[in-house]
Amino acid sequence: MNPPSIVRTSTAELYDANVMKNYARAALTLVRGRGAQVWDDAGNSYLDFTSGIAVSALGHCHPDWVAAVQRQATELIHVSNLFRHPNQGELARRIVGYAGPGRVFFCNSGGEADEALIKLSRLHGVAKSGAEGKCYKVICAKNAFHGRMFGGMSATPQEKIQKGFAPLVPGFAFGELNNLQSFADLIDEQTSAIMVETIQGESGIHPCTSEFLRGLRALCDKHNLLLILDEVQCGVGRTGKFYAFEHAGVRPDAIAMAKGLGGGFPIGAIWVHEKFAGLFTPGSHGTTFGGTPLACAAGLAVLDVIARDKLLEQVTARSGPWIAELTKLAAEFPKQLTGVRGRGYLVGLQLASDSAPYLTALRERGLLVVGAGGNAIRVLPPFIATVEELNRSVEIIRAVLAAKA
Ligand SMILES: Cc1ncc(COP(=O)(O)O)c(C=O)c1O
Repeated sequence: MNPPSIVRTSTAELYDANVMKNYARAALTLVRGRGAQVWDDAGNSYLDFTSGIAVSALGHCHPDWVAAVQRQATELIHVSNLFRHPNQGELARRIVGYAGPGRVFFCNSGGEADEALIKLSRLHGVAKSGAEGKCYKVICAKNAFHGRMFGGMSATPQEKIQKGFAPLVPGFAFGELNNLQSFADLIDEQTSAIMVETIQGESGIHPCTSEFLRGLRALCDKHNLLLILDEVQCGVGRTGKFYAFEHAGVRPDAIAMAKGLGGGFPIGAIWVHEKFAGLFTPGSHGTTFGGTPLACAAGLAVLDVIARDKLLEQVTARSGPWIAELTKLAAEFPKQLTGVRGRGYLVGLQLASDSAPYLTALRERGLLVVGAGGNAIRVLPPFIATVEELNRSVEIIRAVLAAKA
């Protein structure tokens, strides 16, 4: 069959005719980005405080990131995991440096990272009970989001995500976030792990309290359960610490990360404490693409720039006054904005009504942000955002709230 001839048509038409309709996309075609700015195909610029849903930690097309990826693309792009490559070894070393003694497995997305950890929890259950299929239950939180693969989706108790896909993977139970007793009540001899997002992202930025995380740690120690923290959205610096759990002084047994790690290049990773890292053995898990020289070059560039430019310190220093200004808006417009949650550059604005009209109004004034569950908006600046850009975001949000007053 001949390939279809190239027909000049608009991007919107191309999408309408050819792209799967599983997203309610904004009517916006983006063609260029630099720092915290993106431009559409009509030349309009926007302040991009979506960061590609918490991905573009260094903003768009950071020169050091671009140089590192360009350099690696001319050297070696992909070799598979049948061989070693210096970049993968070095990126693993850096992650171990942040997370503690343990080992890293690279994949390509947050969903894959969560899937790997759900598999790890099964292996832990086998080791713990001495038999297959006896100890496999993972306790997660209500309103969680752990991706859209079968394991992660089954761990995501939301109708809009699970509907139509039954039968789900068995073995998940759900406690109330920040209610330790509700988790304790679900533990039985079939339980192998507890898995939570340190800060729930998709459901609208709901942080675990430090006491809750410490309580989960104690429960896991008492019952020999893995404590798995999903830091796919909140990790890699977004809260001003490399991992969000550091704020609570808690150490998990396993971490899922992705999004910010590649600064826009698809990469995911799990870190597993050395006590449990031996559960995966040759053949028990794998991926063709995970941890390619190119993906790891992107990850190393992100970590290099974060360290060199002290971006975690910058996120911490700049986010405090910025969040304080956003919080003032809640006092100014209490009927529309009922709360401000989060930490660092992972902030949720709780609206009193549907977020969709707000997202449109903000976009029309030049600010891109992300919707979240329960009528919330996520505001996710890149770590390189300037004070002027942060202030501008507050002014645009203020103008939109005022217009809706
Ligand atoms: C906490 C969390 N886990 C997992 C995922 C899934 O990641 P991905 O979309 O890269 O598969 C996400 C994505 O938003 C997430 O926020």
